[in-house]
Amino acid sequence: MRYATRTGNVASAATDCLVVARRAATDVAAALGVEEQVRLVLEGTKGRVGGVARVYLPSPPSRLLIIGADAKDDANGSLADFRRDMTAAAGALANLDVRHATVCLDDFDAGGKPGADADITYRKARIALAAVAHATYRFSAYKSKKPSPAKLRQVAVLSRRRAATRRAVAHAQALDDGLAFAKDLGNQPPNVCNPSFVAREARKLGRGNSNVTVSVIDEPKMAELGMGAFLSVTRGSATPAKMIIVHVSQGKRGDQPIVLVGKGITFDTGGINLKPGSGMEEMKFDMCGAAAVLGAAKAAIASELPVNLIAIAAAAENMPGSRASRPSDIVTTMSGQTVEILNTDAEGRLVLCDALTYAERFKPASVIDVATLTGAQVVALGSHASALYANDDDLADAVADAGDAAGDRVWRMPLWDDYQKVLDSTFADIRNVGAGRAAGSIVAACFLSRFTKAFPWVHLDVAGTAYVAGRGSSGRPLPALFEYLLKAASASG
Ligand code: BES
Ligand code: MN
Ligand code: ZN
Repeated sequence: MRYATRTGNVASAATDCLVVARRAATDVAAALGVEEQVRLVLEGTKGRVGGVARVYLPSPPSRLLIIGADAKDDANGSLADFRRDMTAAAGALANLDVRHATVCLDDFDAGGKPGADADITYRKARIALAAVAHATYRFSAYKSKKPSPAKLRQVAVLSRRRAATRRAVAHAQALDDGLAFAKDLGNQPPNVCNPSFVAREARKLGRGNSNVTVSVIDEPKMAELGMGAFLSVTRGSATPAKMIIVHVSQGKRGDQPIVLVGKGITFDTGGINLKPGSGMEEMKFDMCGAAAVLGAAKAAIASELPVNLIAIAAAAENMPGSRASRPSDIVTTMSGQTVEILNTDAEGRLVLCDALTYAERFKPASVIDVATLTGAQVVALGSHASALYANDDDLADAVADAGDAAGDRVWRMPLWDDYQKVLDSTFADIRNVGAGRAAGSIVAACFLSRFTKAFPWVHLDVAGTAYVAGRGSSGRPLPALFEYLLKAASASG
């Protein structure tokens, strides 16, 4: 999808389809000279948040999509309502026979309306463009007959605020690039997308860019580093594990980096603690954390964000086999702490703990890990919010605010010491699972917290948000991560 900005009068927008808020529809109709057609549609339909009324016109714009609530219920229109309106409009746009669409923002010129503030214009432009990108994304790499792609080629936002909309277009485009990368990686089948494939995709991020270097740590190097937990996960697999590190050095030299760490289990059978067959196919998405952090690197590169960023993908496949880890095996982590593996299906924390210890060497300003870590997170929050855990309140707030702004919500969960006890092991320093099933997402976060004492840290459990069963990868929490990076870049720049 290509994005553009437009300024000037709505009548000269030169587009196939205009998207306008219901409260502005009458003004737009007047500017276009189609008062009668619009009046009929407005009278014949009822406005509501998330509603779309269509007007068919004889000459371009040949379509008008009137979105949202009736004017009297919608004096200003909140951003949350606009997000719902645009989601519906984007769904309609993806199926319309138009190549070019223009979304009128609040302050567009339809004859002397007061201008909205620049921040709101920026936000609405981001929302509009993200909604269209989401609605038009397809993954058809393995269809021998390609489904016809959406006709829509370009979306413009119409506003008087040229600077705000230009910035929004640049950011939306960069995020869209990162999201497409992350979703594609997530949607790949696990016979193709193994750790080596993830490494190859990650290497592409560094091509032809002197600010980006990609390094890959293989199993012999992991052994040298003492990553006994990481290595324990891949033992049953015929495909070797990789720890992939993307360095993006676009910030001030010497500025401490933000480190993102992603769980990259390219398939999670559970290992010797084999998962039940029903639903196991969803475990190809168990690398979505890795995909999101690599996508964040891609978006930061595309937007030339002035940050020092390091994305680490902890990639391995969790398989049963004669060499696989057994329940009750004890391994030594890179940190020196020993772990009793009482359930081989709690493998995400095992690859992450060593990746988090490895992150210490970068002296990070902050570390955010992203993982489809527990079924318990899905039980707790469903698909509406990712679970956030933190050892630092400021960082927790910053990530939560970023999630709100991006419409990619996260919800903070407790990390109280009381929950740590169940990880006490009879034979080693820590067990990899609690005694029962209580508070599973929290207990997993407690496990990780034992490896993150050296830096401000946030853990995002995205088991319920990273993909939609039967539909595919959502790219979440990349929108939240990107928003966090944008804020960090503007604070340091
Ligand atoms: N990858 C799963 C978690 C998961 C479950 C992600 C459902 C997405 C949807 C993880 O590796 C796992 O198996 N976790 C176990 C932990 C348990 C053994 C303590 C779980 O949640 O059951
Ligand atoms: Mn598992
Ligand atoms: Zn897993």
